[in-house]
Amino acid sequence: MRLTYAWGALAVPVVAVTVNPLPAPRSITWGSSGPKSIESLSLLAPNDATVSDAWNRAYNCIQKLKWAPATVEHPISSYQPFPTPTPTPTVRQAKRDVSSLTRVQVRIDDLNADLQHGVDESYTINITQSSEVIEIGAKTIWGALNAFTTFQQLVIFDGKNFVIEQPVSIADQPLYPYRGVLVDTGRNFISIAKIKEQLDGMGLSKLNVLHWHLDDSQSWPIDIGAYPQMVQDAYSGRETYSHNDLHDIITYARARGIRVIPEVDMPGHAAAGWQRVDPGIVSCANSWWSNDNWPLHTAVEPPPGQLDILNNNTYPVVQTVYNELSGIFSDNFFHVGADEVQTNCYNFSSNVQNWFAENPSRTYSDLMQYWIDRVLPIFLNNQPNRRLIMWEDIVIGSVPALNVSKDIILQSWNNGPANIQNLTAQGFDVIVSSSDFLYLDCGFGGWVTNDRRYDVMTNPDLNTPNFNYGGNGGSWCAPYKTWQRIYDYDFTTNLTVAQAQHVLGAEAPLWSEQVDDTVISGKMWPRAAALAELLWSGNKDKDGQKRTTEMTERILNFREYLVANGIGAAPLVPKYCLQHPHACDLYLDQKAVT
Ligand SMILES: *[C@@H]1O[C@H](CO)[C@@H](O)[C@H](O)[C@H]1NC(C)=O
Ligand SMILES: *[C@@H]1O[C@H](CO)[C@@H](O)[C@H](O)[C@H]1NC(C)=O
Ligand SMILES: *[C@@H]1O[C@H](CO)[C@@H](O)[C@H](O)[C@H]1NC(C)=O
Ligand SMILES: *[C@@H]1O[C@H](CO)[C@@H](O)[C@H](O)[C@H]1NC(C)=O
Ligand SMILES: *[C@@H]1O[C@H](CO)[C@@H](O)[C@H](O)[C@H]1NC(C)=O
Ligand SMILES: *[C@@H]1O[C@H](CO)[C@@H](O)[C@H](O)[C@H]1NC(C)=O
Repeated sequence: MRLTYAWGALAVPVVAVTVNPLPAPRSITWGSSGPKSIESLSLLAPNDATVSDAWNRAYNCIQKLKWAPATVEHPISSYQPFPTPTPTPTVRQAKRDVSSLTRVQVRIDDLNADLQHGVDESYTINITQSSEVIEIGAKTIWGALNAFTTFQQLVIFDGKNFVIEQPVSIADQPLYPYRGVLVDTGRNFISIAKIKEQLDGMGLSKLNVLHWHLDDSQSWPIDIGAYPQMVQDAYSGRETYSHNDLHDIITYARARGIRVIPEVDMPGHAAAGWQRVDPGIVSCANSWWSNDNWPLHTAVEPPPGQLDILNNNTYPVVQTVYNELSGIFSDNFFHVGADEVQTNCYNFSSNVQNWFAENPSRTYSDLMQYWIDRVLPIFLNNQPNRRLIMWEDIVIGSVPALNVSKDIILQSWNNGPANIQNLTAQGFDVIVSSSDFLYLDCGFGGWVTNDRRYDVMTNPDLNTPNFNYGGNGGSWCAPYKTWQRIYDYDFTTNLTVAQAQHVLGAEAPLWSEQVDDTVISGKMWPRAAALAELLWSGNKDKDGQKRTTEMTERILNFREYLVANGIGAAPLVPKYCLQHPHACDLYLDQKAVT
């Protein structure tokens, strides 16, 4: 909303009730004829259950919440620090002489376009002064869904009526086709209900990919029909996902325009589950992870375990698990891991040691190439549309493979823009997940136990950062990434046009060593919404000025909206800052963030 404050004694004229949806649309044009009221809306749309269900969700939400944002948009140009605005904006009454809105008319060009990478997500919304109709246009169903989540944020309750400012014309589409978050159910279990809560927030903020890191070395929560013993490595019989649960999540996500991309991390981060099928296909699972004697370490976190690349029995098991999950997950993308392989782990594999002994010129890169050459035919078999995602380590890690197909999408998590540039310059498509900017789990301290570094009563030298003072406190990717850190991330800095075209989008991982149902929503939200807007319409205004200051009111209001919708988003500021726009800014200069 814009400028509807009563500014104490210095009343500023009411201009319009223009609300401020998140993500900010690429183009939104408001008139100022005065708001129209909404009596009750009927839907005129192609006969499609996804569309009508999504409309009903949006409309029920409007009616149930009777929402009005706490504050209104505050154009930078008009900012005055004093007097601070009064907390509650006054909403103009709907004009009596204009007809109210009675219908939503939805035109969709192509009802058959599947929800896959690159599907057209654009939409338009028009409300004109003379018409009772809200006109929505979209190329696909998925665009229409985006129109609804925008529309539901445009309608506000003025205490008596639902109103919407008009005329308004929105033409919107995302900058990037891949806009995701990662949920990890291997380190700790996350319930179906909590995963759905994340999907609710994603739908509202137009994030369209849930990257589901299904398992890890610690636990295997997925029912695999071919190997019922794998799920014995779930944390308990209740902390598992049946095939029905997987279908439930995929369906729930799809109804909100969200793709679900599964990850089975291989060959590293693999012990639980696999070892139930055949202990021989897992190397070093029973070794000491040995971070107290780093040269011997077999893993970067406990417990160790990697698939034995040179045990021929590994591959039929990989194939069976992959094929079963491929039959369930409908997305063309499938993530097959490939991060953080630790060479010491394979000291525990006689197969690997014999292979090196046979030919002393062989290296661990040869071993990783062997993995790639064996698994790609398995992963690509009979899947003409399949695109694989791997972590960047397979190309730019400490033990890269020698020759990785450019068809493989790489998820970049190290070295910020430098690795993005390196990989896109090589011609790889990249998903940006730079840990210094986008890891939502960082900054909560070390979680490994029996850690004597915490047992210090004084800081020997206050000028020298150490483990407990000024250092990272055991969190390798400390500090915590604030929403401003995320929103301000210009991940295509210094890329050529050709390189930038290889950036498919970005994804914020929330690794779950210290996350389960009790904290997931507060760590995810509203920070994931900062990424959502960054990827949808960017972090700059038309003049190229960073609009982080303007985003402040949007994200503070959106956090309240998430909470109202049942998503346990964390508070970002004292509520005072929400109610007093820009009173909590660090700089009086509203263009301080450039
Ligand atoms: C909304 O208005 C724009 C600009 O006039 C137009 O291009 C678009 O087709 C309209 N959308 C609908 C659904 O009528
Ligand atoms: C593994 O073998 C290498 C080479 O022989 C050796 O340097 C390293 O210390 C060994 N690691 C472990 C954990 O035994
Ligand atoms: C393992 O499989 C490879 C490739 O099929 C084959 O060349 C090799 O002989 C097999 N090794 C054993 C021990 O069976
Ligand atoms: C690299 O792998 C591709 C297949 O992905 C193959 O066509 C090419 O010949 C390989 N290049 C080298 C140098 O081995
Ligand atoms: C990418 O990084 C690798 C490893 O640091 C380096 O060898 C290579 O030259 C870089 N490639 C590009 C295109 O920057
Ligand atoms: C971009 O390039 C400039 C000029 O070479 C350099 O100073 C800057 O550090 C680069 N930025 C990033 C994020 O790599």
